[in-house]
Amino acid sequence: MRNKKTKCIAADKIIWKDEIESGNIPATMIESEIQIHKGLLHPNILQLFGSFTDKIGQHILLEYAPYGDLEGELTNQKNESFCEDVAIDYFCQMATALKFCHDKNVMHRDVKPSNMLIGWSRLLKLADFGWSSEIRTNNELRHSTYCGTPLYMAPEKVLNAPSRHAPIAPVVYDEQVDVWSLGVCLFQMLYGRFPFTGDNDSTDDKELTKKTLEAILGSPLVFPPEPTVTTETIQLLRFLLAKNVALRPRLADVMGSAWWKKWAA
Ligand SMILES: Nc1ncnc2c1ncn2[C@@H]1O[C@H](COP(=O)(O)OP(=O)(O)OP(=O)(O)O)[C@@H](O)[C@H]1O
Ligand SMILES: [Mg+2]
Repeated sequence: MRNKKTKCIAADKIIWKDEIESGNIPATMIESEIQIHKGLLHPNILQLFGSFTDKIGQHILLEYAPYGDLEGELTNQKNESFCEDVAIDYFCQMATALKFCHDKNVMHRDVKPSNMLIGWSRLLKLADFGWSSEIRTNNELRHSTYCGTPLYMAPEKVLNAPSRHAPIAPVVYDEQVDVWSLGVCLFQMLYGRFPFTGDNDSTDDKELTKKTLEAILGSPLVFPPEPTVTTETIQLLRFLLAKNVALRPRLADVMGSAWWKKWAA
């Protein structure tokens, strides 16, 4: 879609009327996505230009990302991974975008490569604020919602999975769930695989998800011998993927670390 006056190209994300009316995608969730995303202006965040409703559904006009998403870019690579400096460059861009969100009291809650788009100047852009939420709010319920994608899900969020019988009271989490997911993305970009996953030979999706969630909670973090990654970056991954949220660094800590000073160009 092109604006007649500015000639600016925009992508039109459409949420179909049927999906909204059936309650599949609640109107309140779309409203929240638009309100939150609208307030986030940053070079590494996909810009929201505007929104409107018509007879086919809800339209969200977004900055167009011509090179697709990072998931597609990863899949096109040999071994589905990047060399360390490329992975770190993408990681730093997303850490910057997420710190901006956290400083604005927003947690994304669905950080993964398919929600990171490649813009015109090949800058990486954080996208899809469909699951995002305010961090500090009176509506505490939102902070124990089980949402996002299992492979990228932080342990404290896994504890709220409906398949688990415990806990009795919901576990309240915060923006540190994004730090975990970003750690999973860095691991995936470097090694072409996931740090915690169920057995690959499982054909049953439900069973695979269950095993993945168990691995996130209980399996140790193991680094593949190949490809070679520097010890400093491995140490960073250990911090980002700390199962105990109290031991996981905040993005401000990561961006103030010696690792960042050395690696973030
Ligand atoms: N502005 C854009 N420019 C180019 N491609 C886009 C844009 N927005 C979205 N896409 C493509 O559409 C995909 C889905 O977009 P998005 O994540 O916003 O929607 P979604 O309905 O939440 O989808 P999903 O459930 O797959 O996360 C992205 O992974 C990307 O490949
Ligand atoms: Mg998405």
